[in-house]
Amino acid sequence: MSKAYAIKAQNLSKNFGNIHAVNRLNLQIPYGKTYGLLGPNGAGKTTTVRMLNAIISKTSGNASVGGYDIVAESQKVKMICGFLPESPGLYSKLTAREFLEFIGELYYLPKNVISTRIDELLEIFDLEGRENDLLEGYSRGMKQKVCLCAALIQDPDILFLDEPTSNLDPAAARMVKDLISELVKKADKTVFICTHLLDTAEELCDIIGIIINGELKAEGTPREIIDSVGAKDLEDAYLKITGASHIDDLLAWRNGNSNNYEYNNKEQTKRKKKTKKSR
Ligand SMILES: Nc1ncnc2c1ncn2[C@@H]1O[C@H](COP(=O)(O)OP(=O)(O)O)[C@@H](O)[C@H]1O
Ligand SMILES: [Mg+2]
Repeated sequence: MSKAYAIKAQNLSKNFGNIHAVNRLNLQIPYGKTYGLLGPNGAGKTTTVRMLNAIISKTSGNASVGGYDIVAESQKVKMICGFLPESPGLYSKLTAREFLEFIGELYYLPKNVISTRIDELLEIFDLEGRENDLLEGYSRGMKQKVCLCAALIQDPDILFLDEPTSNLDPAAARMVKDLISELVKKADKTVFICTHLLDTAEELCDIIGIIINGELKAEGTPREIIDSVGAKDLEDAYLKITGASHIDDLLAWRNGNSNNYEYNNKEQTKRKKKTKKSR
């Protein structure tokens, strides 16, 4: 397949039984760009990146990453890509340094290169001093940072990030966003981000694709997407394109938590009675 694009997909599809998770997806992403795949939960974002990284097989269609076919040249695809999975598996009985050494070795990096990269990454992600602690003792955000270090350790040309800021506190999320911008600007990387966060997509991405029920419904620069539906900003455009109701979203917690509300009331009454008795 063509080397002209960093990522190219032609009618790429994935079915899980009767579910069309990704349906005839077409992508042409140039090198050096940041692409954001935006869509609600269950839209097919994770399935798309897992296919593009040769982690799961496609049902039909074709795709290439860095010019390599995702099926016939899957090993080459894996060597040139960094991937931050949505729910990464970490070896909890390893320290951060041991885990990153292990990942570096999977990419056949020389030991001295691995050691230098780990030091640099730990400094960037503010994990110095904790690198010899077991991962089981890390917070979710710290684990996310270690996984980002793992995605960057072989200095990949193409970086796939599935919900990169979702587990991070605002300061760490800011740092990750700045790092992504720097990687694209200075190191000329291609970055493919899956996110449901509009502000992340708008800030970082040159091109945005909006996916719903496995189908790409809109694609372009944030400005083009906004103008295409006469919206006032990207949030407005997203809501128009996905047909989502803002009010329904805002009030969804009432349905989900109504039982908790009752439970909390009962608990409160019980506690009040106990307090009265003990007086
Ligand atoms: N391993 C799987 N087995 C069965 N269904 C799956 C599997 N992975 C994803 N799906 C289904 O595919 C659809 C897309 O999921 P996913 O790609 O995870 O969406 P997103 O990342 O946009 O939230 C959903 O309906 C999901 O339930
Ligand atoms: Mg997902």
